[in-house]
Amino acid sequence: MPTITELELPSLPMEDPAFSEAPLPQFAAAREQHPWLATCAFGFVITQYDAMRDLLWLDHSLTGAYDNVVEAMQARGTQWGRFQQESLLAQKGEPHARIRKVLAPAFTPQQANRHRPLMRETIATLLDEWVPKGAFDFEEFASFFPISVMARLIGAPAEAIPGLRSSMEAFGLSMSMDPAFLPQLERATEVLDAFGQDLVAERRKARAAGRRGDDMLEILLDTVESGGLSERELYDLLIFLFVAGYDTSKNALTLLMDAMIRNPEMYERCAEDLDYCRKVTEENFRYLTTSTIPRVTTRDITYRDVLIPAGTMLFFPVSVSGRDPTAIADPDSFDPERQGDKKHITFGLGVHICLGQFIARAQIQEGLHQIAQRIRNPRRVGPSTWRPFYGVWGLRGLPIEFDPAPARALETA
Ligand code: HEM
Repeated sequence: MPTITELELPSLPMEDPAFSEAPLPQFAAAREQHPWLATCAFGFVITQYDAMRDLLWLDHSLTGAYDNVVEAMQARGTQWGRFQQESLLAQKGEPHARIRKVLAPAFTPQQANRHRPLMRETIATLLDEWVPKGAFDFEEFASFFPISVMARLIGAPAEAIPGLRSSMEAFGLSMSMDPAFLPQLERATEVLDAFGQDLVAERRKARAAGRRGDDMLEILLDTVESGGLSERELYDLLIFLFVAGYDTSKNALTLLMDAMIRNPEMYERCAEDLDYCRKVTEENFRYLTTSTIPRVTTRDITYRDVLIPAGTMLFFPVSVSGRDPTAIADPDSFDPERQGDKKHITFGLGVHICLGQFIARAQIQEGLHQIAQRIRNPRRVGPSTWRPFYGVWGLRGLPIEFDPAPARALETA
């Protein structure tokens, strides 16, 4: 049986900006040479949907590749490097299960539905401010939505958001595998850490004075008090919760708007029909999304007669997995009514599967419904570029103009 390093594999220049602009033909060409594997500058890439599904489940043989990422970013001994190596995604076994157990009750589908009125209010307020402009960069607009929702869920003041946005934007480059971004990442870690520490200090004062909120910070502080979370874990979790849902959701919403501009009849229907927004959102998650998941093997794996030794770095580009014609019928057509296909794996699989997936779904559905009501007949008026493919990918900039429409009464159901 061959070892992975003995195979003649295609090579994918995933760090190349030209690759980010048009990865799909390059994945198709790679699969012509080998059905499910390619190499890249930092290890191996799983190029086929079924192989990604099969391998991502092997949690007992894989771990988050954050030591390797920190090494590639030349970030040993930095604050950002420490955060990467200790954050929830890098944890395994007991510490990971313990922290997930603390968070899980706040992230159920029922909880996500409970927050829909807050999501509706948040997007309505943003649209009131932005729609009268008649033209703007949709990505910039979208960047205020998930962070505003998350701030309210955690219990952070809305006024803090503009000051945090650029740090979150920088954090989006965490998995870019490009050391040139390290100074930005280090500054962003300092800002977000200081923000978390101030937030906790303020809240502790309020609690000491007998005032309690009804948000995630209260749950986290109760857990610290009962010994279930250390002080450092608390601050790291606050940073993580802010950044995990920021550029993933913002980029997914921007990709969705781009797809809607190309499908105006679907977009019009979204204004009238929230359930249809759900279908469009799911189809968009399949069609193109944002994440490439890094892993390292912790023991030898044999898969389809290939030996993958312990210590091998693997990348799972779930962002483009839904466009693999060996697994998905007619993958290039955007069809919200498609049935019988394999499910998208946008949110990953296994023990680290996205905890915020129900919140992400609900806020994109609610956002799309109101955006389609107020931003009528959107037209693209300039080009976009693409973000680095490693990590969190997506469009950079989506300049649009449109016909502004007034707000409708908010749905309460
Ligand atoms: C469209 C939006 C989103 C996408 C595409 C997305 C994608 C992902 C992916 C692929 C993972 C797994 C990473 C891995 O296995 O290494 C993940 C994990 C995670 N996501 Fe999301 N995410 C989104 C939104 C959110 C939101 C809104 C939150 C809320 C705060 C969130 C919180 C998390 C957390 C806490 C984890 C880590 C879970 C763990 O390590 O156990 N995500 N996300």
